[in-house]
Amino acid sequence: MAEKGLFIVFEGIDGCGKTTQVSKLVDWIFSTYKKVDSIVLTREPSQSTFTKEIHERLSLKNSNPAAASKERLLELFVLDREEHVDKIITPSLNKNAVVICDRYKYSTIAYQAAQGIPMAHAIDENDSFPIPDMVLIFNATPETCVERMNKSGKEMDAFEKTAFLEKVRANYIKLPALLPKETFHVINANQSIDQIHLDVIKVIRPLVERLVK
Ligand code: TYD
Repeated sequence: MAEKGLFIVFEGIDGCGKTTQVSKLVDWIFSTYKKVDSIVLTREPSQSTFTKEIHERLSLKNSNPAAASKERLLELFVLDREEHVDKIITPSLNKNAVVICDRYKYSTIAYQAAQGIPMAHAIDENDSFPIPDMVLIFNATPETCVERMNKSGKEMDAFEKTAFLEKVRANYIKLPALLPKETFHVINANQSIDQIHLDVIKVIRPLVERLVK
């Protein structure tokens, strides 16, 4: 456990439904635990000095491999994370908040490795960041995810192609074995929104109970 607060991370390929689940979890925590007075909902890429360049590189019109540059993206996501941890995550945990982060270092490890960066190198580059109390990996097939994104009319970026997402998904599934000291739980995200929410609560409830007791 983090010494103070509770640090929860949501991970998964684009369109896996994690953003919907983040807001359902926030509602559930507030309505169930009157003692929790601060939930910090945050995400990566965050709002930092590096956000603009990250989004430019990810946008569809810059999707040629040179523009997407895996080495530069690796560097940018780590720099963005340093600012995010210093300005938001660590200060919030120190105030005993529940911090829920939509993507974190596991996105860099899964996505930039899918671009061709060795996984061990991506892991090393992210070695110094605080370790979450729980990392939920939303595991859904790329077909389901792409269909969800099409339905929502979401503009696709360079990474939202089925073959690429399959590689990212495979990398996510390798993470628990590669990082045995960190706490993961894989959620079946091909289910209905309500069933996924129930699965999330089952994992998170004991952690919140420990925080408020
Ligand atoms: P996200 O904010 O989830 O996408 P959207 O803007 O569509 O809601 O993240 C943008 C993309 O960046 C997504 O495809 C995942 C990718 N990404 C990485 O490749 N590495 C990282 O470290 C992070 C945080 C995101």
